[in-house]
Amino acid sequence: MSTDAFSTLSHEDREFAPSAEFAAQANVTAGAYDAAAQDRLAFWAEQAARLSWQTPFTEVLDWSDAPFAKWFIGGKLNVAYNCVDRHVESGFGDQVAIRFEGELGDRRDITYAQLQDEVSQAANALTELGIVAGDRVAIYLPLIPEAVVAMLACARVGAPHSVVFAGFAAAALESRINDAEAKLVITADGQHRRGAILPLKPAVDGAVVNTPTVANVLVVKRTGIDVEWVEGRDLWWHDVVDRQSTTHAPEAFDSEHPLFILYTSGTTGTPKGILHTTGGYLTQVAYTHHAVFDLKPDTDVYWCTADIGWITGHSYVVYGPLANRVTQVIYEGTPDTPTQDRWWDIVERHRVTILYTAPTAIRTFMKWGDHLPQGKDLSSLRLLGSVGEPINPEAWMWYREVIGGNRCPIVDTWWQTETGAIMIAPLPGVTACKPGSAMRALPGISADVVDDHAVPVNHGTGGYLILTEPWPAMLRGIWRDPQRYVDGYWKHFEDVYFAGDGAKLDDDGAIWLLGRVDDVMNVSGHRISTTEVESALVSHPKVAEAAVVGATDATTGQGIVAFVILRMDAVDDHEGRSSVVRELRDHVAHEIGPIAKPRQILVVAELPKTRSGKIMRRLLRDVAEQRDVGDATTLADPAVMSLIAAGLAANPSED
Ligand code: PRX
Repeated sequence: MSTDAFSTLSHEDREFAPSAEFAAQANVTAGAYDAAAQDRLAFWAEQAARLSWQTPFTEVLDWSDAPFAKWFIGGKLNVAYNCVDRHVESGFGDQVAIRFEGELGDRRDITYAQLQDEVSQAANALTELGIVAGDRVAIYLPLIPEAVVAMLACARVGAPHSVVFAGFAAAALESRINDAEAKLVITADGQHRRGAILPLKPAVDGAVVNTPTVANVLVVKRTGIDVEWVEGRDLWWHDVVDRQSTTHAPEAFDSEHPLFILYTSGTTGTPKGILHTTGGYLTQVAYTHHAVFDLKPDTDVYWCTADIGWITGHSYVVYGPLANRVTQVIYEGTPDTPTQDRWWDIVERHRVTILYTAPTAIRTFMKWGDHLPQGKDLSSLRLLGSVGEPINPEAWMWYREVIGGNRCPIVDTWWQTETGAIMIAPLPGVTACKPGSAMRALPGISADVVDDHAVPVNHGTGGYLILTEPWPAMLRGIWRDPQRYVDGYWKHFEDVYFAGDGAKLDDDGAIWLLGRVDDVMNVSGHRISTTEVESALVSHPKVAEAAVVGATDATTGQGIVAFVILRMDAVDDHEGRSSVVRELRDHVAHEIGPIAKPRQILVVAELPKTRSGKIMRRLLRDVAEQRDVGDATTLADPAVMSLIAAGLAANPSED
């Protein structure tokens, strides 16, 4: 672990209290903190009552096998029933659940009654394909309604889904399918992205030749492009799903039945399959969505811009919002297609009231210019959210002023794939917000900031963010690797959850997140491990050794900078070198996906290593961020650093 992050402690005095008008109508009042503090488990039991349980639970939490938690023991429920059917049964079948907008401008409104029909048909199709409760299904789809339907259909039949971001390459998809031993892959022929059609099926074809467990590939026709077809294995969604009955009886599953696996980067080269289960997860995503976004199901139009390939898409596009009977916008494409005001056009046209997005997007819009949002009517917005990485005060203020017209509370929400749901965030009608701070743990959540010895730090001091009590949506482990779960999260500090993030408490005790303190990078809010990119680089025949660091980037939060040593016979001239650099960047995109493409690759003769052979990434980060190199006295060869620094200056960014 490194404590470099603490050196970026920022100071911010401004504070924005909720307006009286907002506070008066807010879903949650200050009493929630007191109620949860008095009896945390009773508080969560009360939140579980937001759901419809077929069999009530008899005990709230079983922590006897810590850190493997069980929540709402004995309870049985069906997640899809809770997200869809019960709203229809309560008379809201005609309410629009999803307002889909494709990148091309095609639109489709789907009511809860229609969603119920489609999810039932898809569930019947899964059954026809031999999928039974407990089987895993991989989903590799763009952000189109079928993605939501597919996830809900899996939940409905009790088949844990593993959604793989459609930007990942065949190799990354293959390893995820194999780790989960998925029986079925649901994909599309292609997707619309930045005005072009990107094929998806070829990546699946490439992956499934090496995935013996996959029996079928179910393909949504999204773009109409030609695809390769393997008879008997490949099936069109419209052939199999559309002819099914729209009636499907949902079975209730145990509260601890696995709901999904979602792979995320850790500090090693192998992504970990974070496992989430049913009752606790749905309880906390529904509660936090209600409390933090202040959702009013009858009047709000909610838009979370995350892709379903990430945890935010799972918890705050699919499960939390739908459990709360949301009307939400789903947009397939990029923010600059056809023009850079596409998002603001969507907000204006759909009269979006709640917008939840990432700091990297906000900083991009700042760069594109105020005139774009100012050219649209954004007066429908009443609450703004941020997630994925620390939001700098400048971006926070711009979001508040230019997007929120100084009238919308901003909820900066800290959480992780592992936490499943929001953990630290202001309550918009209660908590005064400071630009750049996630403020405090939500009711029912216990967080602290500690020093190296697990001693809580004083106000005004930095340290490590820990979670001290189990929470309902917590991961239940790592798929097929319980020891990695224990070692990775519960060993740094005895018996408490270590999140991997640095944080500080300000003088008032508000929490400021300072970024990761391990070898995980955060690029545009996406988690990528340095080791994963290093493994991809050294898998190229011309690379002898590679070291990767995340360097501060004004737009993407962090950018990937790679230092590589080439094999002796790889290249001999400058021109050759720059073509190798291009080749290596493409190679990483091919192995992992375009999001992992290094911003910069520097060919070096040596890497800074300690005498025991460990690469000193801290020094490389100093170089990549063009700082004076810190203490290099433990290096085996101190001259290495000046050589590298000189090389970097002569090789500016490759973009
Ligand atoms: O470093 C924190 C950062 O994102 C990490 C979790 O990444 P992931 O599992 O991909 O989930 C992202 C969406 C929840 C955290 O360890 N992070 C997330 N939200 C914030 C944040 N850092 C600062 N402020 C946030 N609001």
